[in-house]
Amino acid sequence: MTKWALFLFMLMLLPGCRQGEQTGSRGIDREVDLLLGKMTLREKIGQMSQIDVAALMKRVDPHGGFYGPFLEPNVLDKDSLQKYIVEYGISCVFNIGPHGYSIREWHGYIKEIQDYALHRTRLGIPVLYGVDAMHGASLTVGATLFPQQLAMASTWNPDLVKQAAEITAYEMRASNLPLTFGPSLDLGKHPVWSRLNESFGEDVLLTTILSKSTTEGMEGPGNSVDDKTRIATSIKHYIAYSFPLTGKDRTPAWFPEHYVREYFLPPFTECIRSGVHIVLLNSGELNGVPLHADKYWLKNVLRDEIGFDGIIMSDWYDIEKLNFFHHVAPTYKEAIIKALDAGIDMVMVPLDNRFMDLLTEIVNEGSIAESRIDESVRRILKLKYKLGLFEHPYRNPDEYPDFGSAGFRHVASQCALESVVLLKNADNILPLDRNLKVLVTGPAANTMSALNGGWTYSWQGHAADTYASEKNTILEAVRNELGADKLIYEPGSGFDSVIDINKAVKAAGLVDCIILCLGEPSYAETPGYIEDLYLPDAQTDLALAMAATGKPVILVLTEGRPRLISRFEEQMEGVLLSFLPGNEGGDALACVIFGDYNPNGKLPVTYPRYPNDLINYDHRYSERADHQFGNNHGYHPQYPFGYGLSYTSFGYANLQLSKDTIGPGDSLVVAVDIKNTGKVNGYEVAQLYIRDVYANLTPPFKRLRAFNKIFLFAGEQKTVRFIIQTEDLNYVGQDNQWTIEEGEFEVCIENLTTNFYLQD
Ligand code: BGC
Repeated sequence: MTKWALFLFMLMLLPGCRQGEQTGSRGIDREVDLLLGKMTLREKIGQMSQIDVAALMKRVDPHGGFYGPFLEPNVLDKDSLQKYIVEYGISCVFNIGPHGYSIREWHGYIKEIQDYALHRTRLGIPVLYGVDAMHGASLTVGATLFPQQLAMASTWNPDLVKQAAEITAYEMRASNLPLTFGPSLDLGKHPVWSRLNESFGEDVLLTTILSKSTTEGMEGPGNSVDDKTRIATSIKHYIAYSFPLTGKDRTPAWFPEHYVREYFLPPFTECIRSGVHIVLLNSGELNGVPLHADKYWLKNVLRDEIGFDGIIMSDWYDIEKLNFFHHVAPTYKEAIIKALDAGIDMVMVPLDNRFMDLLTEIVNEGSIAESRIDESVRRILKLKYKLGLFEHPYRNPDEYPDFGSAGFRHVASQCALESVVLLKNADNILPLDRNLKVLVTGPAANTMSALNGGWTYSWQGHAADTYASEKNTILEAVRNELGADKLIYEPGSGFDSVIDINKAVKAAGLVDCIILCLGEPSYAETPGYIEDLYLPDAQTDLALAMAATGKPVILVLTEGRPRLISRFEEQMEGVLLSFLPGNEGGDALACVIFGDYNPNGKLPVTYPRYPNDLINYDHRYSERADHQFGNNHGYHPQYPFGYGLSYTSFGYANLQLSKDTIGPGDSLVVAVDIKNTGKVNGYEVAQLYIRDVYANLTPPFKRLRAFNKIFLFAGEQKTVRFIIQTEDLNYVGQDNQWTIEEGEFEVCIENLTTNFYLQD
């Protein structure tokens, strides 16, 4: 080896000089072109296709159809591997079998799939494997499970969200999973929606900031996804998925374009500008056009306007659904043409070979040019190179010593603690005196699945009690804090049906206080449909019966959306909530109940009072409850957006602005003094809202424009400063353009308000 060759070799071994950087993006482009040049049409179409692992697994009855049970332990079927991975050259495999796998099991399955791709296909292109990591690497047994996104949003802590995302990426890679379908950037504006818990809540700013923290944490600095601890993200679900008119998943949404641009688009734009690799589409329809066939939102806006050059990915089955579900294409074949014409690159097929066969026919007939196929394949191969899959198609789990470590668990515990929102504390019943005798009751008291929700060890999350049996339910955690002799447990009711309320009433006679754990069983997507936002009657009856005992009741809610409690809330002394805190949630709730931790979570969504009262906090002036014409049917929630109590109190004073008039391009400094006026240390989330007093399009009553979570010792005071730019005062006008109008604005922080003027 010459001196120069040795020098270059040593340079390649430097930590920053991995495959992506070594090849550089131009190098990758060259490699991609070379490979593409060798590919047949069939191989290219294989690269555009994604298959559900269910299609590769052995069934108990090989002829029993897709819904027949899997062989246990799960085994990959060699004929299916040969068919899909070798003959069709499928690019991407996703999803999990019926239950969670350890990192070694994942390694085994993925190595087997990869070996078919690498050694039995002509070109040896590695397969890309993806799963939903909605709250940690949550389909891997033994991984660190964080709160669901809505509970993470209740922390209002972007740094913590980023740390959780970094750990998730590490544990995904440890499981040999380099791709996730997430985070979800959907605005959680409809409380009935069964995927609300997968969102960061109803506000655009909070969603945008936390989405960026997540993608940055997962993809790493500079989106260096070839790093063995980072993964590629697929931001979803583009666009306007989360606010269907009925609240039911995958049903139509109707919004003027200016609303879509102002509310749904910003989180996507921000994450795309920070370099994410994939955009996963909305399975529903917007203004009568299914997003999978919407050239305007995919081509004109996503590609041309925002400049996204990554992969546009279809959601599950959604191309064929253009035909039989949405009825915009008379045949599957026409559906494929529409979807490709709209700009889709990769398709979740997900279960058979018809997509590949039909697309081959379509190209051979000339309805779609092969150059159009090349565009998509180029993007997909590029990502495979960037992820380092050609060099490391799989990794040895031993390379990940921190998987499931105590350090990672500590971060998950912190997330769970900060996700807890104290909503009511009459007569300071909380923290609870440890000398009291307590009855623990309710369906959510003794199950891990009510703490975790869906996407936990499986799609619906039903097996959390098996896989997380060493973690504490609320009951177990309270018992650990209090001692078994001071605690009685009676479930009283299931989630939907009564068990024995009388028994719980009798037990209440023997204690000083009741901890009532209500909420929801686990679910994901359509199985989470509900007809009624109220908590089911069985749980309401239990709550009313507990209140009637005259013993103080502390309601602990663990649920994926704000189920209504107005039929009994007034009779509860204390109310605590976490929107699914994950595996560490039982301990976190017990810590808060007994005062080991001072709660600081704030609601990332409005908690409605009545089913016909589903109004977001950023409603219009005309939706105010105190409207001058005596309208008291407006925004009158059980608890407002941003709300959350503490065991200490905070005083706000001296709200000051650096100027009272600003012009375009100026910035404004807003300062406020916050003092911890109570006796315990605590975190507070300072929230700055701005209200446009008059505008040509009816302005929202207020919008969150900045927030800052700070820690204050008892008695301590800090001045918090925010910088407001004139762009923070923009809105999208009827012409669908961002616009800024001069006039008066009000700044509101807690109970303080002041105003300023914007002049041209
Ligand atoms: C969901 C997506 C998910 C995909 C893959 C779909 O049904 O809508 O959010 O990423 O399945 O699991």
